[in-house]
Amino acid sequence: MKVGIDLIHFATSDYFLGMDTFAQEKGIDVNKYYVGIGQEKMSIAPPDEDIVSLAAKAVEPILQAIDRNEITAVLFATETGIDQSKSAGVFLHKLLNLPSRCRMIELKHACYAGAAGLQMATAMVKANTKEKILVIAADIAKYDQNSSGEATQGCGAVGMLITENPRILEIEAGSGYFTDDVMDFWRPNHRNTALVDGKYSTKVYLNSLKQTWDHFTEQTGRVFDDIDYFCYHIPFTKMAEKAHQTLMRKVGSKLEKAHADAKTLPSQIYNRIVGNSYSASLFVGFISLLDNVKDQLDNKRVSFFSYGSGCVAEFFTGVIQPGYEKVLMTESHQQQIDEREELDYQTYVQFYYQTDYAQPNLTLEHFNKGAFRFSGIEDDKRQYSKQA
Ligand code: CAA
Repeated sequence: MKVGIDLIHFATSDYFLGMDTFAQEKGIDVNKYYVGIGQEKMSIAPPDEDIVSLAAKAVEPILQAIDRNEITAVLFATETGIDQSKSAGVFLHKLLNLPSRCRMIELKHACYAGAAGLQMATAMVKANTKEKILVIAADIAKYDQNSSGEATQGCGAVGMLITENPRILEIEAGSGYFTDDVMDFWRPNHRNTALVDGKYSTKVYLNSLKQTWDHFTEQTGRVFDDIDYFCYHIPFTKMAEKAHQTLMRKVGSKLEKAHADAKTLPSQIYNRIVGNSYSASLFVGFISLLDNVKDQLDNKRVSFFSYGSGCVAEFFTGVIQPGYEKVLMTESHQQQIDEREELDYQTYVQFYYQTDYAQPNLTLEHFNKGAFRFSGIEDDKRQYSKQA
């Protein structure tokens, strides 16, 4: 039985900050960002955008392509949850008019939870083929001002419909996984921004890749050359390049640079101009591959390396289904990216400090240009609106 991604769509915010503006303000050579970490722009969420409004924007085109009453569960992965008790999916449930015979759950482990949701949804559909599950990964990556992480912010949400006989990607059985209790990136309950031991986090990421690769090969018997394209979790695109070089060294691959690049660079195009979107980032990379690769991808095997600081990691593969290109939503992705408005540095800082929501009542100025908006807080209850 084939189970996997039937439809996939991503959303980002209406604003971005150029790394040229960022570098100029900080008095740093812009090539540190363009070349050193591989980022050109980062999507910035205005105060009236959060993971729920971003998720709604990601999922609505999927729901318009199917009967939304058939959705049986929503698995919502996020590091930037908006409530300690109520799951973000329930806010979304109302906003998107989902059926009441539907289950909602929020999943958390830093950037890993989206991959966990995808694996869980695949198992649920295998157990009962009537299930049609929405897996959502949505995050707003936010670090302290003037910290090393500030240059690696961004935001985005990915919606994936998981069904039997998927039209885009069959998830293959068998994966490699790895957990280790480390403090490389974390966000205590009292903080809006993540804390990070940046250099250490890159080392833990690469070690986790090696560990999951070993487990993956033991579990599946597959080798490096069985994989046509590689998608990595992308906190910044240089990290994915380092990951691929590490894997090539580990397996002793002699692949020429041009060939290695052809297998990895298409999955970095969107992330380079969107920035980090934590749990969504790996899947923004997959969408980037689908939308930008020049070759026909029918029956090609794609690998996914998910890394969540703290840390939990997983390496698995899927096979692209013939005819996949007929159901891609490429135009919507490119239009959103192209239509973002560039921020000056002052407005970026203004947005940054306005996203402190620790108050029972709050009215927000209108910046979000999309159909779904986080409109404020009344008596400690978050309010959302949908434009007719
Ligand atoms: N021209 C070209 N390259 C330049 C340059 C210039 N003018 N100036 C610097 N560089 C290069 C450096 O040589 C360096 O390259 P290498 O990594 O190949 O050595 C690179 O640019 C970065 O420079 P620094 O190491 O000096 O940068 P930094 O200390 O300011 O920050 C970072 C780097 C630690 C990764 C920081 O961006 C950070 O803290 N990021 C957040 C944490 C993160 O993303 N970790 C990734 C793994 S954890 C994860 O993946 C989960 C997640 O989503 C957070």
